Amino acid sequence: MVRRAVVTGVGHYLPERVVPNSEFEKTLDTTDEWIRVRSGIERRHFAAPGQTTSELATEAAKAALAMAGIDGADVDAIILATSTADMTFPSAATMVQEAIGNTKGYAFDVQAVCAGFVYALSNANALIVSGQAKTVLVIGAETFSRIMDWTDRSTCVLFGDGAGAVVLTAEDGKGTAQDRGILSTDLNSDGRYRDLLYVDGGVATQNTGVLRMQGKEVFRHAVEKLAQTADTALEKAGLTSDDVDWVVPHQANIRIIQSTAKKLGIGMDRVVVTVQDHGNTSAASIPLALSVGVANGQIKKNDVVVTEAIGGGLAWGAVILRW
Ligand code: UT7
Repeated sequence: MVRRAVVTGVGHYLPERVVPNSEFEKTLDTTDEWIRVRSGIERRHFAAPGQTTSELATEAAKAALAMAGIDGADVDAIILATSTADMTFPSAATMVQEAIGNTKGYAFDVQAVCAGFVYALSNANALIVSGQAKTVLVIGAETFSRIMDWTDRSTCVLFGDGAGAVVLTAEDGKGTAQDRGILSTDLNSDGRYRDLLYVDGGVATQNTGVLRMQGKEVFRHAVEKLAQTADTALEKAGLTSDDVDWVVPHQANIRIIQSTAKKLGIGMDRVVVTVQDHGNTSAASIPLALSVGVANGQIKKNDVVVTEAIGGGLAWGAVILRW
C-alpha cells in the first residue's frame, strides 16, 4: 500500500469584470491583433476595487470543497500559491482559513510566482504521503492587475486576475502508475535568472512595486525548461508522453504552450488552453485550467494529467497526476 494524494474536488473563481484587448488600444500603442498573435490572449478578468486575492481564493476554495463534499472545518492544511497576497503578512492562506471556518488546520502561502501551483501541489503531496495531513486544500490565486505598470505595453496586456483550487485527499494505492492521485513531481529553480522577471518593490523598498520582465529571455527559458521538467516528471512516474491524456500547462503564451506540447510529442487536442480567456494569471492559471477542463468535460476520472509551469526566480516544475 502506498499513500496517494487524490484530487477529490476542483473549482475556480473569476472576477466579474472582463477586459478585452481592445481596451488597451485606448491608452497604449498596441492592437488587439498584436496581443492575440504574440500571446494568444483575447481577454482577461480584473478584480474590482478592494477585491483581494484572499477573497478570490476563498470563492475558488468553496467551489472545490463543495465538489469534494468536504466541510472547510475538516481540512487539515491550506496551501495558497500566490505572489499577490493581500498584505506582507499574515499569509493570505490564513484569511482563507478564517473565511471557510477552519480552526483545526494550518495555513500558509507558497511564493514561487507562476510555478507556485506546482510547488504547492508538490508540498501538499509531501504532507499527505508523509502522513502529516489527510485533506489538503491547494489554491492558486492572484491579483496581478495590482502590480502592473500601465504604461508598459510589453507586460500590462499579458496578465489577469483569478483563482482556482483543488482538494487533495489521502487514499491508499498500489504504488503503481495505475493509482489515482499525484504520481510524481519535479521542482527546480535557478536564482541566477532572478532579474528576468521580478517586481521592483517590496519590503526592502517600502512600496509594492510593479512587474518587470525581459519577455524574450523568459520565453527562451520557458521553451527549453518546460518540456524538460515534464519529461523528467513523466519518467519519475514510469510513464511516457503516449500515456498522457491531458497537458494542463501554465497559461502565459499560446506559442510557449504549443512549442512545449510539440517537444513532448503531444498534440494540441490533448492540451487544455484557457489563455485566450484568462491571460496570464500566474499561480492561478493551472488550477483555473484544471477546473475549466473538468467543467467542460475534457478531464475525466482516471485520466493522466501533466501540469507544468515556469515563472519568476526562475522557478519551474511539473506534477503528474491521475485524475
Ligand atoms: O508567466 C511567467 C512567464 N512569462 C512568460 O512566459 C512570458 C514570456 N514571454 C512572452 O510571452 C513574449 O516574449 C511576449 C508576449 C512578452 C512578447 O512577445 P515577443 O514575440 O517576444 O515580442 P518582443 O518582446 O520581441 O517584441 C517585439 C516587438 C517590439 O518592437 P520592436 O523592438 O521590434 O520594434 C516590442 O516593442 O513588439 C513590441 N511590443 C508591442 N507592440 C504592440 C511589445 N509589446 C507590445 C504590445 N503591442 N503590447
